Amino acid sequence: MATLADAGLQFTSLPHPAPMSAERRAQVLANPGFGTNFSDHMVSIDWTEGQGWHDATVGPRQPIALDPAAAVLHYAQEIFEGLKAYRQADGGIALFRPMANAARFNQSAARLAMPALPEEVFVESVRQLVAADRDWFPTVEGGSLYLRPFMIATEAFLGVRPARQYKFLVIASPAGNYFKSGAPAVSIWVSEYTRAAPGGTGAAKCGGNYAASLVPQGEAIARGHDQVVFLDAAEHKWIEELGGMNLYFVFDDGTLLTPELTGTILPGITRDSLLTLARDEGLTVREGRYSLDQWREDAASGKLVETFACGTAAVVTPVGKVASRDGEFTVGSGGPGQLTQRLKDRLVSIQRGQAADPHGWVTKL
Ligand code: COI
Repeated sequence: MATLADAGLQFTSLPHPAPMSAERRAQVLANPGFGTNFSDHMVSIDWTEGQGWHDATVGPRQPIALDPAAAVLHYAQEIFEGLKAYRQADGGIALFRPMANAARFNQSAARLAMPALPEEVFVESVRQLVAADRDWFPTVEGGSLYLRPFMIATEAFLGVRPARQYKFLVIASPAGNYFKSGAPAVSIWVSEYTRAAPGGTGAAKCGGNYAASLVPQGEAIARGHDQVVFLDAAEHKWIEELGGMNLYFVFDDGTLLTPELTGTILPGITRDSLLTLARDEGLTVREGRYSLDQWREDAASGKLVETFACGTAAVVTPVGKVASRDGEFTVGSGGPGQLTQRLKDRLVSIQRGQAADPHGWVTKL
């Protein structure tokens, strides 16, 4: 890997004496939830047309000043990533596939007409933040430090064209379970809204995709479900994803299926890791199309035995019940399935340094 110096950057470090009392932090780390508490530091790097990336700092986490005309506030030039740092069995700290996040970040940047960030700068930024905030690892079982790298257009300009100034930031948040309910399996609502259309931004991790999912997600919650599942835009027939998670289907012959990446689905890194881990076990995994009607029929006949959602935040979460305007159905036993649990255990044990890492996914810090 190229070094940071190759990219012409050097970090200025501005340590931040812990602003939260040790007692309060211990409480937070024992019960972190998801996305509500933040560590002491952040990374910030600016980009200016003609100059490139400059002014890299790891300093106090604090509000950022933006001109009210900043392009991100008007035309949503924003992208982000989500990855986690894990406490290892030997007491060390490691990242899981950070280069994959760096590569996807640049794919999102290209789609949103934003500048590429050298992958080594992305990974080094995350490293710097984890090193500064190493006291922020949750003490709860299954906890991790969730890292949120993101980029915004900061140029003050109201014309519609790519901005000429950007800011890349990384913040960190101690994380426990993504789902509050702690239920053994989640229930999902089939949305009549569309998340992404062919040629759109569905494969990019941009804030706008998530903004557009809030009304459908609110509808799912109002109906008593945990998450929303989106169908394809053209036929409203094929299962795509949950908006923040990919889906897998497990059949009674031991094979798996996950919706193929057609350009309207986010290419999840957890999704990709599970494809590999399942194939390592000798399982047959297909990437293909699967319709809502088939899902319902296979669940009723017993051909489909498990369904699970996966993502960095959600890890691997069983889906127990599926509901739509046409009624609802239960998948398998309605609780966690055996293969779902086995794949989750396999993934988590690699991430936490409790098992061998045959694919070189773990980056020790
Ligand atoms: C992640 O899994 O990291 C995501 O970005 C999903 C988000 C909805 C929390």
